Amino acid sequence: MTDTANRVREHNSAADLTDRIKSALATIVPENEKLTVAQLAPLDQFHARGILATTELADAAELAPSTRVLDLGCGIGGPARYLAATFGCKVIGIDLRPGFIGAATYLTERCELSDLVKFQIGDALHLPFENEAFDTVFLQHVAMSIEDRAALYAEVNRILTPKGRFVIHDIVLRDGDVVYPAPWARDASTSFLLSELDTRMALEQARFKPVLWRDDTQSTIDWLKAAMASSSSGPNLGAVIGPDFPVIIGNLARNLRENRLGVLSAVLTRY
Ligand SMILES: C[S@@+](CC[C@H](N)C(=O)[O-])C[C@H]1O[C@@H](n2cnc3c(N)ncnc32)[C@H](O)[C@@H]1O
Repeated sequence: MTDTANRVREHNSAADLTDRIKSALATIVPENEKLTVAQLAPLDQFHARGILATTELADAAELAPSTRVLDLGCGIGGPARYLAATFGCKVIGIDLRPGFIGAATYLTERCELSDLVKFQIGDALHLPFENEAFDTVFLQHVAMSIEDRAALYAEVNRILTPKGRFVIHDIVLRDGDVVYPAPWARDASTSFLLSELDTRMALEQARFKPVLWRDDTQSTIDWLKAAMASSSSGPNLGAVIGPDFPVIIGNLARNLRENRLGVLSAVLTRY
């Protein structure tokens, strides 16, 4: 594992993550009861616009029960569980952080989805899969933590079938200095943002062409504004991110409002 991967691994890491999540969930469902994907959605979708973003991208990716899906940088597994529960497809989630994989596995058992969704620790740059092993790869809010974008996209290309779909949801660089800490990095040393144009060029060099390419910056600004104004007291991403959660979300909203960053959603196929 590279130095960068090790430093990314440390951001937000906490040995007691599963315990924190258990405590947050105990306020809405007793520990011996089954959880639903909908109940977990405010807490387990570790990206801007939450379950809404995953739902839109999944619809655009045209998933079916036979689709073999890889959720790359799966976090605590919210998107992977949503895809399996909604489309009946099998999903594998990979993440660098053992604490996230532990929490993802626990939550999936609580949702009784373990037959469809599996998780393993792994690095997106060295995937433990054969060529063409997946029909769809999801990559939500992960690329900005990976320095070698060419290697990342080449690895995705390798494990996708020729007609496979690559679904991305990224924060992109616009104009001006980024304010940290951000949801994916405590400071600039583990942040590897690209502009929308450079992202497009890197994808083209890895032989991907878009079937959907959408600027979601304004809808994300609106969503963050509503989320920050909400008085809901239920479990939220704070259980995963920790006590800095309000500062981190506030910084993301500011970076987007001030045009320092933007949000890109896309679905691509191989050339
Ligand atoms: C902001 S979270 C997004 C999680 C998930 N995709 C979601 O949307 O809920 C980014 C995730 O990418 C993971 N990650 C970063 N670099 C990685 C790498 N090189 N290989 C695998 N996972 C990585 C992090 O550990 C983290 O869980």
